[in-house]
Amino acid sequence: MNLSDTANQKLNEQIANELGSYYLYLAMSCELHDMGYKVLASFFERQADEEREHAMKFLEYLQEVGSPVRLAAIPAPKHDFGSPAKIVQAALDNELLVTRQIHELAALADRERDYPTRSFLTWFVDEQVEEVSSMRDLQQLMERAGEQHILLVEARVARQMEEKGKG
Ligand code: FEO
Repeated sequence: MNLSDTANQKLNEQIANELGSYYLYLAMSCELHDMGYKVLASFFERQADEEREHAMKFLEYLQEVGSPVRLAAIPAPKHDFGSPAKIVQAALDNELLVTRQIHELAALADRERDYPTRSFLTWFVDEQVEEVSSMRDLQQLMERAGEQHILLVEARVARQMEEKGKG
């Protein structure tokens, strides 16, 4: 089946957007590592890996439907956020941005009556609900704990990562 030129362009852009998230979370992981927050650093490294997987899903979908993949430049991520709380807030803002991007793609597929793409995007619509929710939980936890109790946040995140790893 043929995707419209617009759908092809927007899906290719989303590959770069997801890889931009990968790069952003990797930068955040490095900054947290340098601050000595090793658990939060590995949490963000894991988030980064998930973003790369998201990019690959878009790439493989384009290949599956026989629509050209055109990789775009990925902008350098922001550095020097300054604190774990600012990093988590920026990650939440990023997830809200990605959610808007996914919704725009879904709206385009609806307008074009492109049912395969709309069906493909359903996984991402659901995934964004989960990603925004878990990042918002972390942001609220961080806010309640305050800068002086970040080690408690790390202990909670470590437990959650262990549970997720088992699941
Ligand atoms: Fe691929 Fe976290 O959005």
